Amino acid sequence: MKALSLLLIAALGVSGAFAVDRNNFKTCEQSGFCKRLRAFKPEKSQYTLNVDSVFVHGNVFSAEVVTVDLEKKNILWRYALRLSALADGTFRVEMDEADPLYPRYRTQIALEDEPKGDGLKLISQENGKLTLANTQGHKVIITTEPLKIEFVDHTGEVAVVLNENSQLVVEPLRVKTEKIGEDDEQGNAVEEPEGTWGENFKGHHDSKSRGNEGVSLDVAFPGANHVYGIPEHTDNFYLKTTTSGEPYRLYNLDVFEYELDSPMAIYGAVPVLYSHSAKRSSGVFWHNSAETWVDIVNYSEGNVVSSLVNFVTGGQKQRVDARFISESGIVDIFVLLGEKPADVFRQYTTLTGVAPIPPKFSLAYHQSRWNYNDEADVRAVDDGFDQHDIPADTLWLDIEYTDKKKYFTWDVERFRHPTEMVANLTAKGRKLVVIIDPHIKREAGYFVHEDCTEKGYYVKNKDGNDYEGWCWPGSSSYPDFFNPEVTKYYVERYRYENFPGTSKDVHIWNDMNEPSVFNGPEITMPKDCRHWKPPQDGQDGLAAYWEHRHVHNEYGQWYIRATQQGMLARSDGKYRPFILTRSTFAGTQRYAAVWTGDNAAEWGFLQASVPMCISLATAGISFCGSDVGGFFKNPDAELMTRWYQAGAYQAFFRAHSHIETKRREPWLFDATTLARIRDAVRRRYALLDFWYTLFYEHMIDGLPVTRPLFQEFPKEEATFTIDNQYLLGDKLLIRPVLEQGVTSVKLYLPAKETSTLWYDVDSYQVVTANGWINLDVTITKIPVYQRGGTVVPRKERVRRASALMANDPYTLVVALDANNTARGTVYIDDGETYEYRSNKYIYGSFDYQPTAFTYKFINEDANYPTRSWVERIVIAGIKNAPKSAKLVQGGKQTPLQMTLHRGNDVLVVRKPAASMASPWEIQFTY
Ligand code: GLC
Repeated sequence: MKALSLLLIAALGVSGAFAVDRNNFKTCEQSGFCKRLRAFKPEKSQYTLNVDSVFVHGNVFSAEVVTVDLEKKNILWRYALRLSALADGTFRVEMDEADPLYPRYRTQIALEDEPKGDGLKLISQENGKLTLANTQGHKVIITTEPLKIEFVDHTGEVAVVLNENSQLVVEPLRVKTEKIGEDDEQGNAVEEPEGTWGENFKGHHDSKSRGNEGVSLDVAFPGANHVYGIPEHTDNFYLKTTTSGEPYRLYNLDVFEYELDSPMAIYGAVPVLYSHSAKRSSGVFWHNSAETWVDIVNYSEGNVVSSLVNFVTGGQKQRVDARFISESGIVDIFVLLGEKPADVFRQYTTLTGVAPIPPKFSLAYHQSRWNYNDEADVRAVDDGFDQHDIPADTLWLDIEYTDKKKYFTWDVERFRHPTEMVANLTAKGRKLVVIIDPHIKREAGYFVHEDCTEKGYYVKNKDGNDYEGWCWPGSSSYPDFFNPEVTKYYVERYRYENFPGTSKDVHIWNDMNEPSVFNGPEITMPKDCRHWKPPQDGQDGLAAYWEHRHVHNEYGQWYIRATQQGMLARSDGKYRPFILTRSTFAGTQRYAAVWTGDNAAEWGFLQASVPMCISLATAGISFCGSDVGGFFKNPDAELMTRWYQAGAYQAFFRAHSHIETKRREPWLFDATTLARIRDAVRRRYALLDFWYTLFYEHMIDGLPVTRPLFQEFPKEEATFTIDNQYLLGDKLLIRPVLEQGVTSVKLYLPAKETSTLWYDVDSYQVVTANGWINLDVTITKIPVYQRGGTVVPRKERVRRASALMANDPYTLVVALDANNTARGTVYIDDGETYEYRSNKYIYGSFDYQPTAFTYKFINEDANYPTRSWVERIVIAGIKNAPKSAKLVQGGKQTPLQMTLHRGNDVLVVRKPAASMASPWEIQFTY
């Protein structure tokens, strides 16, 4: 009944007041371990390092840590501490029980590889302090009693401190005693915190057969102004002090009508946190996949500077403390020592991997709706884009295309000819994306269900039987991707022959992978469900499986990993898959793009999409966007226009809407709105090669594609809290109009000190950086600025789909800096295969000097037979125009035509016709 009503609510979601039902989700008080550990604030830490046990071998320092009863001085518990020095200015600290009852869970899927080690030396040991050094000029000072670990950056200052506030806890695993309330052998009453062996929430019982197994650690960032990260939340990009409210929560959840400006958990959980000040950036990656809560105290926020705080911090006001509290696992934390924002962001992707360059079409525009009803509907929408001259690369099919929500099948009434339907799309260079969710309909005769049942592939409930939950298909079970055999089975499902109608041009949308369970506790899987674990000798009982509580935040990632393997296998590794996921965890960038889930057609959700995606981008996941137009409710023409304009500059650009909303393909709006939407989408296509180049560069340097301002301008304090503006690479500054009915917006143009020039991309009018400005905007204006000193490649002959633009000519926009120079890059390949790995690509550099503009191959061993050429070079900010220009390419010299536009100092080199397939130079004479 409850499930049914939830379904109804989900389906109705367009009427009534839009608000999350907070009662469905726990507060920290309602979560046993959060309440218990958050209240744990000892004056002195019980954890002490045993100096006699210290051992340094290779890059690893290890030692025994014990907890001591501070009164009786006896040892309570023994732990094993490992500190490893890693490549690239990173350290790892792991602390587990020395001899746990059975192994504690260690997160399995976040790291791309075993991290590379660096040299580590113990350089001194005196007065209860051990000092270690890596080879990169960083030091670690370990105070032994109580245990505290300080990380010293290359300038000699402490950047990160662990256990500064004595909040380190690893709750030991124990056997359940029958003697609660009685005295033990020492005469102490046997007490158990409430809820140790079971908890309830809203009629759901969590059986907790392992008892409490929480871990907690505090991290201090001395000197930091702000901390960022730990997506996914709807709050500002910079994190706020949580002491008087709820901590930020990381627990992948399907939150119906999620609320804005909130620390509540939603679909994704990436436990990486960065600190920043004008002096340095550092960060920590909390390597744990269990439910986690994060408290933040920013001492420079007026309301938390109290005498107590000053006492604690020794009067130092600029510092941020964080505390991670997880339900299970071990203490496993990576310390990233920066020193600049770009360094910490890269240190994080060095650990968790980068996004492989996506197929090019996936950076173009996507048209989705729950649902396109049948083949005729798909055809009409597809034609609509042509009739209205709007480019589009994909059409999407939501759950209704299936035979009653049985994935890997089609509704044969409405989608009788999927192969032909796909062929109609591909004839125009378009693709199809279909949804496949992890829940499997429990229906006799459905082959996936029958296979999974027969082979024991489902996640088990606490009693060891197949777990049954409720999702779109009704009664459902969930494959256990922790079992490699299950993944193998699932991979096979994606073969073209097993999923008829699909081809290399059909890509996949994985949704509901938190996992969403409509009738489960907090709309997800019960924590006492059981996951597969490799069988090991002598491990039985509790040691023979993992509980869902250990792995919850990574379940969705195992799922998309299986999908990626399946999509690779179906083409024998030839074509790059595109996958969209809703649930995220550390490392998701290796597998999929992400969207921000079920937002609404409200201005607040448009606003939130910017910090939400920037936060994910710094956490490795740049390929992010929000449902353009809003999922729930109906956007008016202005909101729709602004959302398209904003979406055109976000990495993942897809319109999507709820089944009960009004149809809203662009041509269903009035002609003026349609024209504005068309303009926004066309702007995206013009910059597609620029986006593609940025994603290539992310793959090689691990940096965000969409960047917070402070990444490029780390010393500029005003940028630290700006999260309605961002950068594409280091070249374009975007300030989408996110406010209703405005005629001007506030905009910050950074780098005043270096007199950086910013060019309005529409007019080429230049503004010298001077901090905040007010900019007049009309409904057609999208404030985008090109940074002086950069070259941006554009393609201005916009066609129906990106594939048709592959050989189109480029317009190169050269925006000069104060020295009249500019640089840029371009990446070109076939857009869909892995042949770039065999050097079939061009990674070209542009270098503009007053005497010559040069195009070179950065990797001279690589090449790609592109037929693209340069049709126009726009040089903005030219003060002293050359008299003549000639192209030198392949031993040939060609004189070129130029036009000078005095009004805005723009020089246009017309039709240079330089081929992009080989290097060239344009020489200027004055
Ligand atoms: C979820 C998704 C939404 C999708 C719907 C039906 O609510 O977030 O995008 O349309 O499920 O599949």
